[in-house]
Amino acid sequence: MHNNVLILDFGSQYTQLIARRVRELNIYCEIHPFNKIPQDLSSFKAVILSGSPFSVRGEQAPHPDLSGIRKKVPLLAVCYGAQYLAHFNGGKVEASEIREYGRANLSVIKDGEPLFRNIPENSQVWMSHSDTIKELPTNGICLASTSDVLNAAYRIEGEETYAIQFHPEVYHSTDGKQLLENFLINIAGVEQEWTPEAFVDMTINDLQQQIGDDKVVLGLSGGVDSTVAAVLLHKAIGKNLYCIFVNNGLLRKNEFESVLDQYKHMGLNVRGVDASARFLESLAGISDPEGKRKAIGKTFIDVFDDEAHRIQDVTYLAQGTIYPDVIESISVNGPSATIKSHHNVGGLPDYMKLKVVEPLRMLFKDEVRRVGAELGIDKELLGRHPFPGPGLAIRILGDITAEKVRVLQEVDAIFINGLKEWMLYDKVWQAGAILLPVNSVGVMGDERTYEKVVALRAVESTDGMTADWVNLPYDFLQKTSNTIINRVKGVNRVVYDISSKPPATIEWE
Ligand code: XMP
Repeated sequence: MHNNVLILDFGSQYTQLIARRVRELNIYCEIHPFNKIPQDLSSFKAVILSGSPFSVRGEQAPHPDLSGIRKKVPLLAVCYGAQYLAHFNGGKVEASEIREYGRANLSVIKDGEPLFRNIPENSQVWMSHSDTIKELPTNGICLASTSDVLNAAYRIEGEETYAIQFHPEVYHSTDGKQLLENFLINIAGVEQEWTPEAFVDMTINDLQQQIGDDKVVLGLSGGVDSTVAAVLLHKAIGKNLYCIFVNNGLLRKNEFESVLDQYKHMGLNVRGVDASARFLESLAGISDPEGKRKAIGKTFIDVFDDEAHRIQDVTYLAQGTIYPDVIESISVNGPSATIKSHHNVGGLPDYMKLKVVEPLRMLFKDEVRRVGAELGIDKELLGRHPFPGPGLAIRILGDITAEKVRVLQEVDAIFINGLKEWMLYDKVWQAGAILLPVNSVGVMGDERTYEKVVALRAVESTDGMTADWVNLPYDFLQKTSNTIINRVKGVNRVVYDISSKPPATIEWE
């Protein structure tokens, strides 16, 4: 892929956000760690340096050699990047006397500068640094200031090198997207060619080249990623794609049947395997969350492997891996926490000896949805909330029984259908119900009850890494709670989880 943008990552929490903003401009970009600058830079038309938790003055700070980049490719240095360029090129970076965090406004913008085209004075920007640039590097020209930060933006005379101390990628920098557009399109001349259509055409073509007449097996989960991967592969290789959709008995109410139907309607060559009993058996008596995950993971591999062996001469295993799973992360505080061990990335048992094909490995989640829409996949399927691989098993605290699964499925269905009816479903990132291992006293009619408590959880988030509980209308909660207690036998109390992540997590286990 030509016409690329290279983002050099110095470990900022916002690096992926820069990439997403660039992609929103229909421009392809890749994130590479600062210590692994690609040897061949010929396909990159612009380079962006990310921020970093380090101080340029620190001993551990990243100090990469940029001589292959500067003066050769247009460069935009953000935050740490801006300080790095200044510090080693005749400027001066010092600890700031005042806090430079949060909202600020560009009180002065130099006239006629292409980087600030269509950006008004007073534009709000987001600052997040403890060092500040006291003196610009040699040939530096100041482009913008805030009331507290004199050198909020500069360029270096005689080269296409720009630097800003604020973060254009965050939502609070109101003209951040315009600034990135100015840099990438007007200054660097990058074309806006990265569209869902272009991706679909290119990927189908690549998949055909790669796979030829070989057979591919793919595990569908009902989620967006595996569905989009399957439809892409189906377009590329048709009946040579064999999909397996496993019912682990821990899905939502009626989900197995309805999703399997949808898959068949899409023309996918899919086999539904009801392995509920096998999963329940493997979970018997296990209460520990990680124990449940391990039991489910192992059973899934066994079931999948049995099914895959029914297909003669299969060569490839397709997976719905997406870009955040493959970005090599910079280790700032020990091993990165970005990829959680419990997330089912990889999962290929050695003995299957299949080659892996991952058609979505360059896409962010929002791009997967856009590609899905381009492929004509049903909106409802594309808009589904994320659902964990171990399903309801990690929403039933304590051990799992068929009866507990049934109760939780009923509660969950009332909650989720209610969200849809009240037009709240699309406003929520993820929602579900949790069955607590607690009985509490209640009264129904003249009788005293001693039954289960369920918790409802609804969160807003962008990627699941941080999340906040959703302020659902009281009327909705009231109605939902009534319906659950009236309709679901065995439940006499409903509570709403009002914890944010961190410090809580989204799932209770
Ligand atoms: P937590 O609970 O860690 O969840 O805040 C963040 C996101 O990850 C999902 N999740 C999982 N997904 N296997 C999965 O495929 C798992 O074991 C698992 N545990 C949590 C969770 O639903 C949320 O979207």
